[in-house]
Amino acid sequence: MTSTTSALHTSDIDLFSDEVLANPYPHYRRLRDLGPLVELPRYGVVALARYEQARAALEDWQTFSSADGVGLNDILNEAWQGTIIASDPPYHGQLRSVLSERLAPRALRAMKPDITERSAAHVDALVARGSFDAVVDLARAVPISIVLDLLGFPEEGRDRLLEWAEGSFNVCGPENRRMRDALPVMQDLFEWLTTTCTPDRMVPGGFATTIHEAAERGDIPAEAVVPLMAGYAIPAMDTTISALGSAMKLFAENPDQWDAVRADPSLVPGAFNEVLRIESPVQVFARVTHRTYSTDGGSIPPGTRVVVLYGSANRDERRYPDPDRFDVRRDNVDHLAFGLGPHMCPGQGLARLEAHAILEALAARVERWELTGAPQRKLGNTTRSLDSLPVTVRRAPDLSRPVRN
Ligand code: HEM
Repeated sequence: MTSTTSALHTSDIDLFSDEVLANPYPHYRRLRDLGPLVELPRYGVVALARYEQARAALEDWQTFSSADGVGLNDILNEAWQGTIIASDPPYHGQLRSVLSERLAPRALRAMKPDITERSAAHVDALVARGSFDAVVDLARAVPISIVLDLLGFPEEGRDRLLEWAEGSFNVCGPENRRMRDALPVMQDLFEWLTTTCTPDRMVPGGFATTIHEAAERGDIPAEAVVPLMAGYAIPAMDTTISALGSAMKLFAENPDQWDAVRADPSLVPGAFNEVLRIESPVQVFARVTHRTYSTDGGSIPPGTRVVVLYGSANRDERRYPDPDRFDVRRDNVDHLAFGLGPHMCPGQGLARLEAHAILEALAARVERWELTGAPQRKLGNTTRSLDSLPVTVRRAPDLSRPVRN
């Protein structure tokens, strides 16, 4: 990082230590209290932990560029060069337009009946069992079954996609053990995309075929194909899985909030936003300043790597009163869990479709959640997720419609 133009507060916090990753929220609060820009000398970055500055960075790509990489180490930033997430307009727009129609409201409307039906059937089977692992059997199983078909990659290797995606998110962090362990996993993903995911082996009609076709038409350069496939393969599952796992944990821990959703299922979209706000699946991505950024309480020069702390911004008490309280009726539509600006998540409509279908199916069938074992967290350099959440559910007395209080 280049030297700062004005003295900033500093913190020696290790945002990526096991202790902080297990519960980052008190540490985020300390960073927010220190100031709007906090230097983390350990990583040579400036942290944007407050809502206002995180939002400003996401919206202003000319000051906060993604083209120098969104990770915290050179290996990742090099490997992801030319991916959709690590590029700026206008090239970014060229990449983004390839799949924009596939994820637009019209396409989502066409997918809705199938996703609703699959979710209901899956939830029915689990509720009949009574006890299950809400992460393994539900949060993972449903998005995997939906998204793998949509991406349309060849059968061979598909079963490793989730592992590859999780590894790739870990490579985004600083060069710690978690990052080094995951490096070969990410390399396997790129190798598979290059050697196995050739046009002749794709499932017709899948996203991957659409990407190859765009290159054949000359809409994108041939060398953009593999980075673009990676750009969708990596975030399409893990993030949604994280959100669904958190949703079920939060509802098990807050039965009054579950009662509210069951009594009024129109609260489901707001409840899902609240899950994303309070347990943001993506916790951190980086930017590099291309011009001076000044805000109340400090300024940073061009060439500064900053980390946008989505999970902290979404719990900023300056924006959300009593931010640690899970409240499905909260005014939360402006949360940053899907990002903002040019890189705002293009898959958010699909993620919402999946999550709403599952939560609505559950609200109609489950009266009460009970945790039957300790939730197991999976510590990651970028995403916040659970590995296991053993639950028992009490069936709603009348399965044909939600119980109204
Ligand atoms: C709850 C689920 C999800 C969450 C919380 C989430 C979160 C995010 C965030 C925060 C970003 C912005 C990164 C930045 O600021 O640099 C992003 C970008 C992206 N997401 Fe998602 N995502 C989710 C689901 C999905 C799904 C289902 C897909 C694919 C169908 C997807 C594909 C992408 C892609 C391709 C980008 C890069 C966009 C760009 O750089 O223009 N995401 N996501």
